[in-house]
Amino acid sequence: MTTSRHKTPKPVKLETWLAQAGARWDGQTGAVSMPVYHSSTFRHPGLGQSTGFDYSRSANPTRSVLEETLALAENGPGTRAFAFASGLAAIDAVLRLFHPGDRILVTEDLYGGTFRLFEKLFRPYGITATYVDTASVTAVRQAFKAGDAKAVFLEVPSNPLLNVADIRAIAKLARRHGALTLVDNTFLTFCRQRPLELGADLVVYSATKYLGGHDDVVGGAVITHRPELAERIAFLQNAAGAIPGPQDAWLLLRGLKTLPLRLAKQEANAQALAEWLTRQAAVSRVSYPGLPDHPGHAILKQQASGFGAMIAFEVKEAARIPAILAGVKVFLFAESLGGVESLITFPAVQTHADVALEIRDRLGINDRLLRLSVGIEDVDDLRRDLERVLA
Ligand SMILES: Cc1ncc(COP(=O)(O)O)c(C=O)c1O
Repeated sequence: MTTSRHKTPKPVKLETWLAQAGARWDGQTGAVSMPVYHSSTFRHPGLGQSTGFDYSRSANPTRSVLEETLALAENGPGTRAFAFASGLAAIDAVLRLFHPGDRILVTEDLYGGTFRLFEKLFRPYGITATYVDTASVTAVRQAFKAGDAKAVFLEVPSNPLLNVADIRAIAKLARRHGALTLVDNTFLTFCRQRPLELGADLVVYSATKYLGGHDDVVGGAVITHRPELAERIAFLQNAAGAIPGPQDAWLLLRGLKTLPLRLAKQEANAQALAEWLTRQAAVSRVSYPGLPDHPGHAILKQQASGFGAMIAFEVKEAARIPAILAGVKVFLFAESLGGVESLITFPAVQTHADVALEIRDRLGINDRLLRLSVGIEDVDDLRRDLERVLA
């Protein structure tokens, strides 16, 4: 492949690797910003010869640099990453690894779109999900004992309730039962949590969130260090073709360069806001893993190097929700998360409407729950905005 001649050497630190992603790729012009290869097809030097790029569904230089950057960032050499058109396209590819009759244990309070994928797309084909409280290793152990499961799919922390699964313990259990451990690492990213090092087999991302980080692109990724899984994902990526275009790959690549900086500021803002929210009279419950009394705090302290920038909180009176959502002036009332702009979301209606009402009620995704994705703005501006609408 021509790429190898111009690869950025892997530096020791993640920050350096990300900041210089693609900066040495173009040996001809010396372009520091990775060029956007808007080419669907590539000229062959001769019969049976290839530059390494033939057709952009199979491989495109801008996407290849994004994938190479993600793979090394997640887990180092030997790891492979595959970019997809969205997080759900990435999860869809992962679920296609399974066959009719296969059962997968799944975090019960996960993103509503992933729930919809399991229930509305894969269940009719005979791939079934059993929803488990994956914050409890005992519950996962019992679920494995209850019958053959081919995999466990964890969202850590979960969306929107921020429950935390012990990835190391669950991956160990899964291995003992001959099952795969699949982790949606969207909320913390490889900057904070490295599921493959903890024993997971495969990681998925909605790259739309922290990896892109600017609310300007939708994308996804699958990353694995298991060669046989990588081969199958590579096949699926090309065969089903849910790839990002070169412009989207470039936006994601540019976003990645500042991920460590963004996340650090977002986390500091989130910690301050979460602590402040716990003292507000209008608020009945705050869920942020960085609070010492959060049930997942101790586990995340062991398996991650930070707590992320997502907060869920309940207000005492459901009737106040419309005024809060209409009244915010710094927070933006919008779904999604992970960008530099702070967003406020009403999960029961926006992100989790596809989860059955009785499940939502049991889990606590109710009409008093709000979710914050904390951005990089001045924390006092954010606090004052919430203070005003909660008053
Ligand atoms: C944890 C998680 N995984 C996956 C997805 C789906 O990603 P996308 O919207 O990029 O398809 C989302 C979207 O919100 C998410 O929050």
